[in-house]
Amino acid sequence: MKRRPFGWTGVPVPVVGQGTWNLERDERARVVVALRAGLDQGMTHIDTAEMYGSGVVEELVGEAIAGRRDEVFLASKVLPSNASFERVLRACEASLRRLRTDRLDLYLLHWPGTHPLERTLAAFERLVRDGKIRFYGVSNFDVEEMARALAIAGERGIACNQVLYHLQERSIEHAVATWCAEHEIAVVGYSPFGSGRFPAAGSAGGRLLAAIARAHGATPRAVALAFLVRLPGLFTIPKASRPPHVLDNAAAGTLELTDDDMVRLETAFPRGRPRAGVPML
Ligand SMILES: NC(=O)c1ccc[n+]([C@@H]2O[C@H](COP(=O)([O-])OP(=O)(O)OC[C@H]3O[C@@H](n4cnc5c(N)ncnc54)[C@H](OP(=O)(O)O)[C@@H]3O)[C@@H](O)[C@H]2O)c1
Repeated sequence: MKRRPFGWTGVPVPVVGQGTWNLERDERARVVVALRAGLDQGMTHIDTAEMYGSGVVEELVGEAIAGRRDEVFLASKVLPSNASFERVLRACEASLRRLRTDRLDLYLLHWPGTHPLERTLAAFERLVRDGKIRFYGVSNFDVEEMARALAIAGERGIACNQVLYHLQERSIEHAVATWCAEHEIAVVGYSPFGSGRFPAAGSAGGRLLAAIARAHGATPRAVALAFLVRLPGLFTIPKASRPPHVLDNAAAGTLELTDDDMVRLETAFPRGRPRAGVPML
């Protein structure tokens, strides 16, 4: 599994991690096995959130990483409705309890909300000082919102922006991804398979993915993931509740696409026009 520095933090993080949204809907024992299989493959960046299954997913992740905490780059998110100073501190404690750990590697504001960002970030700073979190960041922030966050936190305050990024939704490449690269802020792309809208096998894009996959002895999904982490500073967090899917996704972590593959994928899945803000799922 390829690792790269997580932005300015310098922490080596696998380019392909594991998402956990909706995992509470799947069979619990199988999900735990799947997450552990991902860890075995080096997919040690696990992304969760207090919102997922209203805490049930964090409990499930806690079960999966029990005894293996030190291997994991563990990320969770606070809901915007809990983003006041006091509530962030409380929400973090609750996440830590459900995850059965004493610290998070990364704590994110799930999306911009109405609580003053100054107070949210002050709470994150307090959590860093108290050793409850190593780094903090944001999610679903556009360039303007990132600039505001940076103005409050200073350079090397915000470690990451987690944003929607898949083959058919590349609009972050117009502005937010380059802005983050300039400030050495890691970009974690979420819903890399479009959250269930992966290009159909019979479509032109699906046929191209299959052809490239065949040439590499990989699968179309692994090709898509390798494309999504082709630039430095980019990470991806597919969600897979089935162990064979996890192994398939892990293969992207060593897959080297050729320049020709890249050009063909760029053409088949164009970046599209810039749009205001960042798209959200
Ligand atoms: N910050 C935010 O606002 C935000 C928003 C959305 C998502 N996220 C994060 O991003 C993660 C990923 O996004 P997502 O959950 O929306 O969906 P996704 O990763 O785009 O797609 C997940 C779907 O793809 C299937 N799948 C995964 N690997 C596969 C494979 N190798 N072959 C065939 N099917 C495969 C999964 O099936 P199985 O489960 O059956 O394996 C599931 O149905 C989330 O879990 C969450 O951690 C963050």
